[in-house]
Amino acid sequence: MNTFLQYNPTKLYFGRGQMDQLSTEIKKESNVLVVYGGGSIKKNGVYDTVMEQLYSVGAEVHELSGVEPNPRLSTVRKGVEICKSEGIDFLLAVGGGSVIDCTKAIAIGAKYDGDVWELITQKAPIEDALPIGTVLTLAATGSEMNAVSVITNWETNDKLGWGSVHVYPTFSILDPENTFSVPEDQTVYGIVDSMSHALEHYFHRTENTPMIDGFIESLLRTAIETGPKLVSDLQSYEHRETMMYISTTAFNGTLMNGTDGGDWATHRIEHAISAIYDIPHGGGLAILFPNWLEHVLEEDPSRVKQLAVNVLGVDATGKNDEEVAREGARALRDFWNSIGAPSTLADYDIDDSEFDSIVEKTFIKPGVGTYKELDRESVMDILERSK
Ligand code: NZQ
Ligand code: ZN
Repeated sequence: MNTFLQYNPTKLYFGRGQMDQLSTEIKKESNVLVVYGGGSIKKNGVYDTVMEQLYSVGAEVHELSGVEPNPRLSTVRKGVEICKSEGIDFLLAVGGGSVIDCTKAIAIGAKYDGDVWELITQKAPIEDALPIGTVLTLAATGSEMNAVSVITNWETNDKLGWGSVHVYPTFSILDPENTFSVPEDQTVYGIVDSMSHALEHYFHRTENTPMIDGFIESLLRTAIETGPKLVSDLQSYEHRETMMYISTTAFNGTLMNGTDGGDWATHRIEHAISAIYDIPHGGGLAILFPNWLEHVLEEDPSRVKQLAVNVLGVDATGKNDEEVAREGARALRDFWNSIGAPSTLADYDIDDSEFDSIVEKTFIKPGVGTYKELDRESVMDILERSK
């Protein structure tokens, strides 16, 4: 194992009835900007519960609605403006990963004199942020308990991940009932995204990590067991709570303890695709990940084989490593297909006309992949396999 520091300051309120904790977390008479998306929280009643809690402590409430899936820089800028003009002292994100990511970017922009894009692109250091809290309504990204955010600049078609210790939510409320209204497709994307985060952690090169490897394998097996049950019963509290805990744990730092952090190349390629085509993040990952596995196993099948046997139920008897690994990649693709995820870029009407540009955007920051460092030809190969 590598040496590591475990630090995660987000206070997590998990389970039924935890919405009541909102009023204990919001300081009396604070000036709060509530950030949310396109209206799902108004339909499912979460908005009303949040407002009741805020008014019960005498908070002054401002709102920023309309945060897009794949949140845009233009919306972040709007939020920064409100914070500055209204003297906001606390940000409350109510929604999925997009709303939370947008809120994190608003939080840093509000404490900076220049344009927030300079911080996101690391042209200026992030030194401060407004505090944020979250009410999670969609189990997928893990943004509710990490210091990461992903913002799209539609002027330049760049989708950029960034992070700062200043944007860990101070608290997050995770009531599985708030995810009952998530439609089937978004539920599936959430399952794929959570599993992809676990998979990307799994592909590290650190020696002697049996505890973390076993933990990841167990998380993945649980997702494979629970995913189909949840998709066929979207109102099941039990399956919603299992998936919610999986998605938060899959990307809150726990799965990196003692390893080199894993290989996030698939996320880099997916972000490049959705910067151009605005597709759902989990959908893009479902297409790319099995093809990344196939690309990797042709050079070294060992880790994919381990995944195939320990997680995907492949019987290795009488087969060589590459055969077992290939079966594993196929089994993952088949599993995601079976719950309704896409498997080719054509499913989103994407052809190869922008492949050159996707490759360039994948390298927007240097260094793509660690378990296997990808060059431009490798990324193109994975895209070709994904057509
Ligand atoms: O906008 P509203 O009306 O709220 O509808 C949303 C949106 O249309 C809807 N939804 C959310 N909760 C709902 C609901 N509909 C009904 N009932 C509910 N309870 O779902 C749609 C998708 O929401 P979104 O927030 O975009 O989904 P997700 O949580 O998957 O977030 C995706 C974004 O997060 C980024 C992705 O790249 C993408 O931009 N990521 C962020 C990460 C992070 N911060 O750590 C890591 C991830 O790898 C990922 O890259
Ligand atoms: Zn993701």
